[in-house]
Amino acid sequence: MSRFAPPPPHPSGATVPALDRDAIPRHLALVMDGNGRWANDRGLPRTEGHREGERALMEVVAGAIDLGIPYVSAYAFSTENWKRSPAEVAFLMNFTGDVMSRQLPTFKEWGIKVRWAGRRPRLWKSVINRLETAERETQDNDVITLTMCVNYGGRAEIADAAVAMARDVQEGRLMPGSITEDMVQRYLDEPQLPDVDLFLRSSGEQRLSNFMLWQSAYAEMMFLDILWPDMDRRVLWRAVEDYAHRNRRYGGAMDQMAPATRE
Ligand code: FPP
Repeated sequence: MSRFAPPPPHPSGATVPALDRDAIPRHLALVMDGNGRWANDRGLPRTEGHREGERALMEVVAGAIDLGIPYVSAYAFSTENWKRSPAEVAFLMNFTGDVMSRQLPTFKEWGIKVRWAGRRPRLWKSVINRLETAERETQDNDVITLTMCVNYGGRAEIADAAVAMARDVQEGRLMPGSITEDMVQRYLDEPQLPDVDLFLRSSGEQRLSNFMLWQSAYAEMMFLDILWPDMDRRVLWRAVEDYAHRNRRYGGAMDQMAPATRE
């Protein structure tokens, strides 16, 4: 018996699809795009869209738990998002911190282990505190790992790993000849994160926007034509069913040999 409560079922009564264990992605990457557009379409301030986005995130995490996905990474604020208006940056800083506090009881109840990936400099101290509190208070949870990517950038993560490796080489702790792909992985923000299997972006935009670049080398990409606040677990389940039918080759394609013909 798990010491954690399962998420409440979806109000529609929809049930999780039966899929083989090996058809379930191990790592789901989420680009939660479209909150602003969702609000604009309704004549609401962008901030209202972000609030609905929080509900959608928890709903998708519930669906991931139902499916048995062990790792979900959510892109909450990129290293490039500082270019947004000062008012929106301030809102997003406060909002992200508040999400972490507001959802902490649910993280604990559902057994979610929270991790933070991203750069420390420039990130508001109040946000770092609440991310670190959530990390500390959920560290023994083992139902799912939710990595909140805040002040995160894929290039920044790789560049920071390069700096750390260069420092270790300079100080004699690392031999240049031992820098393999596995070694680079060890210097990333969250070295234990497996490769992304399913990369899901809402709102119809078809780009990575600097998310999980290293980890997504062989990710299956899915771009959904719905805005993030309209996401729910049923959409995730359909996406995973689609994923389960994809033919992943990792570069190892084999020609289909024509059957030998007899003379
Ligand atoms: C990347 O697109 C998208 C993000 C970094 C996600 C932003 C998400 C939020 C602000 C909502 C956070 C929600 C919760 C619940 C914490 P981009 O706009 O940075 O990149 P682009 O300009 O290439 O589209």
